Amino acid sequence: MASVENAAAPTRPDTTNETKTKKGVFGKAFASLKNKYVARHAKTDVEKKYKLGRELGTGNFAVVKLGTKRSCGTKYAVKIIDKALCAGKDDMIEMELAVLRQASHPHIVGMHEHFDTPSHLYLVLDYVEGGELFDRIVDEGNFTEQDASRITKQMTEAIQYLHDRKIVHRDLKPENLLFASKDNTDRILVTDFGLAKLIDDQTTLMTACGTPNYVAPEILLQKGYGKEVDVWSLGVILYILLCGYPPFYDESDAVLFEMIMKGKFDFDERYWRDVSKEAKSLIRNMLIVDPAKRLSTQQVLSHPWITGITDLPNVNLSKSISTNLKKHFSYVTPQVKSPEQPKVATTRTTTTTTTTAAVTTKVATVPEAAVPAPTARASAPIGTAV
Ligand code: ADE
Repeated sequence: MASVENAAAPTRPDTTNETKTKKGVFGKAFASLKNKYVARHAKTDVEKKYKLGRELGTGNFAVVKLGTKRSCGTKYAVKIIDKALCAGKDDMIEMELAVLRQASHPHIVGMHEHFDTPSHLYLVLDYVEGGELFDRIVDEGNFTEQDASRITKQMTEAIQYLHDRKIVHRDLKPENLLFASKDNTDRILVTDFGLAKLIDDQTTLMTACGTPNYVAPEILLQKGYGKEVDVWSLGVILYILLCGYPPFYDESDAVLFEMIMKGKFDFDERYWRDVSKEAKSLIRNMLIVDPAKRLSTQQVLSHPWITGITDLPNVNLSKSISTNLKKHFSYVTPQVKSPEQPKVATTRTTTTTTTTAAVTTKVATVPEAAVPAPTARASAPIGTAV
């Protein structure tokens, strides 16, 4: 099930220590929005126009419901943000609205309209029916590096689009990546801009936020950070896409954050022997602790593992990835449930001693058990490592 827990998480620290530079197209949109940000709708306006149905996802301060437009029957995902629960965090709501109003990209969820009532903000979003990234990978019987490369390219293009417009997403994680269609995995869309922030080259963000497994080391170090944090998160997602477990993991967030700040991870041969050296090279260069040395979105898109997609190994990695995903991510719920694998979603909300970060995640089990040995490697590596 889609999660919107980061729509306005109560655990998020206050944002007042951030430099707020509002420049460019999004900056102007943001500035004008600030003046206009007064409730001007009633709940009945929404209900007159949309029939609100089943819940698509829930979070601390928001719920996403299926909305059917009464006039034409078109389905939407209506994100309902409870203003009372995010009092004092107006900037966050405004930013999410500003990004959604301006963004128009094939890999970013679009907004149809919004309703601002005294108590709630209703965002009428494109209904993305294909489900969450990891759920679908578990369901797919076939998943190759070519699929992972295509998905990574699309996610990176979406983030490059945001970065070009001075926006940092800051909460990239598999729950915020949805497939457009149930029938195929051809198109993925990035959603949830509840933590997005405007930034320019001079702007340094300070707020510790994100989701533990995907959070970049510079956020934890609290010396300021920028758009590079999104590439780190994409690197973590890519790593998981190819093996089914995270590069950094510990039950204790304090230990996990130490691991992330050291940037120490490996490619365990048991799970990585069928994966090309180009994929590993790309991951290594996305998970560089020093943000200045980390690849930019443009460099990711120019990497041979992305540009040379047709030459990539065609080995079906699905079995071991799915086994690991089901083992390490308790919320992954296959459409066809296997009776021996009942899943209980566990949500972990943590504040650590190493940082002031207070973050929410859904991770349950420790990666350890062996996965059946993958079969032979299909093709020789391509290209040169960056
Ligand atoms: N869950 C959260 N956002 C969604 C969307 N846009 N479409 C479908 N499910 C969702």
